Amino acid sequence: MTALALHRYGPDADAGVPLVLLHGFPLDSRMWSYVVTSLPLVPVVAVDAPGFGASPALPDGGLEAFADAVASGLADVGVTRAVVAGLSMGGYVALALAERHPDLLAGLALLDTKASADDEAGRSKRLGVARAARGADGAAAVAPMLATVLGETTLAQRPEVVEEVRGWLAQAPPSAIAWAQESMAVRPDRHHVLADLRERGVAGLVLRGVEDAMASPAEHEQMARALGVEVVQVPESGHLSAVETPQPVAHALADLRHAVTG
Ligand code: MLT
Repeated sequence: MTALALHRYGPDADAGVPLVLLHGFPLDSRMWSYVVTSLPLVPVVAVDAPGFGASPALPDGGLEAFADAVASGLADVGVTRAVVAGLSMGGYVALALAERHPDLLAGLALLDTKASADDEAGRSKRLGVARAARGADGAAAVAPMLATVLGETTLAQRPEVVEEVRGWLAQAPPSAIAWAQESMAVRPDRHHVLADLRERGVAGLVLRGVEDAMASPAEHEQMARALGVEVVQVPESGHLSAVETPQPVAHALADLRHAVTG
């Protein structure tokens, strides 16, 4: 199986259940760097999605193949139990991982994401972006996302974050943009996975940047209800909560891991 790039931080993952971080589209594991800095005592494994960052593309398969590659990469480094946190696209993959490798999940954190599938309009928009990325536009196909992935507070008051995210969008590999959009377009609804996690007593977290324009409050409420938790609301933060407001995000992730490991 193709090996994805796993970046390890903090104490040795052997020291305890690691926090596995799955980034949003079309970024890479650098997205988590500010959260990781705030968690010096937590073993962390940050994964680059196929074709992004230092990971090779997968020969075939969508988010399910990605989830299988995460499980296999973790097994290769001796990780058989983990608290898995996914932001947006990373959340879709975390849910696929929970469905396909349930024994791996000691806890699940869903940040600014959804458990629902796309509607027809959403699917067709994604396929348009994939075509544009494979064609003349390349990475420019995702440049307009800057205004929607960041919240109004960040856009108005955090110019260094705006510039960093603009740079990441410009660096996104066109073939990986297209693969991710095509894969996200066909992902199924995975609300049943949340009900199953709750039944098995797996600790859960649903976190929302309150200025998130890409995943609705209703979606977050529905996921939280299914998991039996309250939505953690992070003020002055948009869709990229882990980049815009890393400290409250790091605290919420540390609390979840603490609830699992004691
Ligand atoms: C992300 O941040 O990963 C994207 O918003 C996911 C998506 O396009 O649904």
